[in-house]
Amino acid sequence: MIKASNLYYSYGKINVLNDINLEIKKGEFVCIVGDSGAGKTTLLQLLGTLERIQKGTVEINGTIINNLKSNKLAHLRNKEIGFIFQFHNLLSEFTALENIMLPGLINGNSNKEVKEKAIKLLNELKLSKRSNHYPDELSGGEKQRIAVARSLINSPSIIFADEPSGNLDSKSANDLHKLLHFLNKKNKQTLVVITHNNKLAEQADRIIKIQDGKII
Ligand SMILES: Nc1ncnc2c1ncn2[C@@H]1O[C@H](COP(=O)(O)OP(=O)(O)OP(=O)(O)O)[C@@H](O)[C@H]1O
Ligand SMILES: [Mg+2]
Repeated sequence: MIKASNLYYSYGKINVLNDINLEIKKGEFVCIVGDSGAGKTTLLQLLGTLERIQKGTVEINGTIINNLKSNKLAHLRNKEIGFIFQFHNLLSEFTALENIMLPGLINGNSNKEVKEKAIKLLNELKLSKRSNHYPDELSGGEKQRIAVARSLINSPSIIFADEPSGNLDSKSANDLHKLLHFLNKKNKQTLVVITHNNKLAEQADRIIKIQDGKII
């Protein structure tokens, strides 16, 4: 489902990724671990089409993304990929419900259809009572769950998460981990998660360790 071949990346003269080769199967739950500065976020952004590829190739669902035009790439990203960032990245001027709906509307689905799905996700994440709250009015764990709901609105086949529980207390982190595990097992969504959390990494099908821009 995801394949990276001979992937290199540098910021100016600093080589951050050095010849990364990996394959992730459909429905797999993979954790990416490694020290701070090892290149994990850079790798996730390349796999997730958020960063331009400098050298090597990335293939998603059989499509080599390197040469896709920006509109095609945006379409693939919006339809197939869900992102959960370390700092939720919710838009403060929109309510929880609206934040969840946005990628669905961008995808061109009708307001009614997207709203119904967003409400269903809010229910599943036990956040129905918070639907009209703005991000400032939510706890850290609630914001992160809203971000999870947002990542799921287009039923992506792949979910990328960058330290999704990095800023949560242990109870909220455990709840979020259970949720991610459930999504992977129930919906068979491919899950690629960067984490420093050993408990989460232990649940993964596979752990990929990055050190100095290389898979070790
Ligand atoms: N915009 C940038 N400009 C220059 N160097 C950068 C930039 N972004 C990241 N780097 C460098 O690239 C290296 C890899 O960064 P990256 O964010 O991928 O690390 P990471 O493994 O995700 O670390 P962490 O666990 O701290 O999030 C680091 O040395 C970092 O300083
Ligand atoms: Mg990082």
